[in-house]
Amino acid sequence: MDFITEEIDNLKTSGLYRTLRAIESVQGPRVKIDGKEVILLCSNNYLGLADHPRLKEAAVKAIEKYGVGSGASRLVSGTMGLHQEVEERIARFKGTEAALVFNSGYAANVSVIPALVGRGDTVFSDKLNHASVIDGCVLSRAEFKRYPHKDMEGLALRGKSRYYDNHPALRAPFLN
Ligand SMILES: Cc1ncc(COP(=O)(O)O)c(C=O)c1O
Repeated sequence: MDFITEEIDNLKTSGLYRTLRAIESVQGPRVKIDGKEVILLCSNNYLGLADHPRLKEAAVKAIEKYGVGSGASRLVSGTMGLHQEVEERIARFKGTEAALVFNSGYAANVSVIPALVGRGDTVFSDKLNHASVIDGCVLSRAEFKRYPHKDMEGLALRGKSRYYDNHPALRAPFLN
């Protein structure tokens, strides 16, 4: 188990060791941590919906009627009328044929990406893409090539090198 202690020490030395900070108030632009009010700029609650009275009321009503939890995965018995209703409403709002709701951005990326690409495909991904995009690409088993953040020339070069990987006879002109 020494490797764990060593890894933790390395993370601490390089300033990458992270700890959890518990929020003691509702989610909002200001929250309470360790009894102190602080400004919160890093949450996804941009629209303040986590504490919106109408949402809270709707959530309470839904819990009273349906309880908590969906009981199972969606393909087993976890799809409820409520899930279908929200997806139909999102599809109507977005003007799309259908919509699929995931319980987190992470779940969406690790589910959708492997559904779109797989072995034999190549994904070119911005180096700073969210970790869940990277995990989705790795899970897909597609070839994964990263290019420098927002660098379209870097992307073009990665694309060319992929092309020349597959056509080695043509590599020389590109390298010149
Ligand atoms: C682009 C992107 N993808 C995925 C996620 C992960 O979302 P979640 O925290 O809901 O899992 C985030 C989170 O901020 C994100 O910005």
